[in-house]
Formats: sequence, C-alpha cells, structure tokens
Amino acid sequence: MNTSNKTVIFGGSFDPVTTAHVSLVRQLSARFGRVIVMPCAVSPFKTSVSASAAQRLDMLNMSLSGAENAEISTFELDGPAPSYTYLTLRRYAREAGELYLAVGSEMVIELERWKNVDEIASLARLYVVPRPHFPLNAAMRGKLDRLFPGRWEEADFAGETGSSSEVRVSFAMGRPAMYMPEGAARYALGCGLYGEYCYVNALYAEYGMKRKRIDHSYSTALCGIWLAKRACVDMHKAITALLLHDIGKYLTKEDAEARGVVFDGRIDDMPLPVRHAEIGAEILSQLVGIKDADVIEAVRWHTTGRPAMTAIEKVVYLADYIEPLRDFPGVDELRAAVEEDLDKGLLAALKNSVSHVGEEIYPVTMRAYEYYAEKQGENA
Ligand SMILES: [Fe+2]
Ligand SMILES: [Fe+2]
Repeated sequence: MNTSNKTVIFGGSFDPVTTAHVSLVRQLSARFGRVIVMPCAVSPFKTSVSASAAQRLDMLNMSLSGAENAEISTFELDGPAPSYTYLTLRRYAREAGELYLAVGSEMVIELERWKNVDEIASLARLYVVPRPHFPLNAAMRGKLDRLFPGRWEEADFAGETGSSSEVRVSFAMGRPAMYMPEGAARYALGCGLYGEYCYVNALYAEYGMKRKRIDHSYSTALCGIWLAKRACVDMHKAITALLLHDIGKYLTKEDAEARGVVFDGRIDDMPLPVRHAEIGAEILSQLVGIKDADVIEAVRWHTTGRPAMTAIEKVVYLADYIEPLRDFPGVDELRAAVEEDLDKGLLAALKNSVSHVGEEIYPVTMRAYEYYAEKQGENA
C-alpha cells in the first residue's frame, strides 16, 4: 500500500464504470496514498446520464471492492447538480496533504470550459493520464502550461481503451463485458441499461446485412468514437451514423424503390460502388425515420467524401476507411496520418482513393481531393 500523503481525486459520471476506469484506479492506488473516486451528480458537459445515481454507485462499488486505499465518495452525488470540480476541490483541499486531480488526456480538449479553472489550478495539481488516441501533443501541452502553469504532470503510465460510448456499442454487439467489469456488466443488463443502440440489429436483419458487413459496421463505430471525440462531434449522432452507414449495402436502387424509397435523379449518375451510400441515406431518412440531417449527410457522403465536409462527415468517412478490420496496402500509414491530424488523414485517404480508382474516379471525390489539397497547401 502506498503511504504517501498525496491524495488524488478521480471524478466522472461513471455511467457506467469501465474496465479502463478500474485499471486507472489500480494504477493511481500504487502511486498515491489516498484515491478518491468521485461520481458526479450530472457533469456540466453532459445533459443526462442514463443510469440512476444509485445504479452507478452499485456498479462502482462492485467493481472497485479490491482497491484498498481507494474510496468512493458521494460528496458530489449528495450535492446539487450539476457538479463543479472547483467546489469539490475546495472541500478536499482542507483535509488533504498534497491534492491532485486525475484526468484522462482526452479531457484536455475541453479544459477551457471548466468553471473557475484558475481556482482549480490553485487547489490541486493536475495529473494527466495519456489515453489511447489522445497523446499529449504540443498544442495540448501548451494549453496545460497556460492553464496549469507549473501545476500539472503527466502520468508515467497509459490509460486503456474503453469509454461509456464504447460500452453502448458493445452492448449492441451482444458483448456487454467487452469494456465493463463482468459483475457490473451483468448488473447493467439486469437493469436494462445501455441498450440504446441494440435496435440496429433489427435494421441489419431487415435490410439483409451480411455478418461480415455487420462486423465492419461495429468496428467502424468503435473506431469512429475516438475520432468523434477528437473532432468534438455530438457522440449520439456520430454513433448512429457510424452503425448505420452501410445499411444500403445490399439493396439495389430498384429494391429500395420497391420498399417505398423515392430518389431524385442524381442516383442514376452514380457508379454502382458508391450508390449504396445514397441508398442508405434515403432508407434512413424515408423508411427508418431518422430526421437528423447531420446523420443522413454523413451516411450519404461516407464513400465519396465531398468538398467542405462537416466534422461528422469526416468522422464517418475516416472511420469507414481505417477501422481495424480494414487491410490494404498503406492503411497503417493512413491510420498514423489520422492519429496525427484528422484533416491530414482525410487528404491522405482522398489521395489514396484518387490514385487507386484512377480515371474512373467519381467527380465528387476528385473535387474533394482538390479542395483539401489546396486547403492544406498541397498541389493536387
Ligand atoms: Fe460503405
Ligand atoms: Fe463501410
């Protein structure tokens, strides 16, 4: 057991607790004398949580029971919502020796939005744990130096994959313990939690999706979650578009029309390999009843791209291109480019399509390539 007088607070909505949280707490326990796990009432950045406070606490308790110098505090749950970190730190600064606040590196993106960040920096040192796909790059370090001057440090270990969004996709996959401790996953299933995307399976069956395509859709969704987080895209919209982007894959234009879809004339000019995106967008809009234009357009442009794509369009296009099941020459270089910078990755992907398809390239893809090449100062 660590006997230092350092206390660390690790907060979050824990909706639900994930295996990544459990491993993080274990790592913190080895480095700090006291670890306070702090589920919040409602984070100022989340408009809702789907499990009740009691359910979130139950799942935390059953998952963290072995960590001896870690305790779960109900300080925020007992207080008014939303929970503000500076108020929690004020409370613990009085009794702690040296106080730290642990955050995953993905949180650095939204650090300016924290209320009273100056006071937070005066009350606690920030302990930043690098998370997969969110390395502390120069811009993030610069921001930390500005907001927490001399008051932050990088953890000497890396966090694991697995966020509450990934949990929701894994529940749709029928693999609830993929990112959750087993006991908590069983508990969540018993309470009927986190099943909001299970409906996609009925749609996959209805539109004749084959097993391989379904696995690709899940894999695209899991890959797109970190892209969406990086691009600050609404996560629910992103997951919906990612899971359903290939819903038109096994229907011809005529099949879709027989089911009641009405197309405008554009589809007849599209080469067959890109038609499924248009068919999918219209199925989702006209038959499934998805009215969100951001979602529909992300599905519509997922194969071809287009000039001036929205953030969610980029996320779906790129996730579809580089998801882990994809295997083609150059895919690893492409993944590295996306990790470094989304727009850089987008240009590399468009360039790859243009050179791969050659003369037959769909004009919109060519225009998208030229648009991004010019924007990034590269000669098309
Ligand atoms: Fe597709
Ligand atoms: Fe796809």
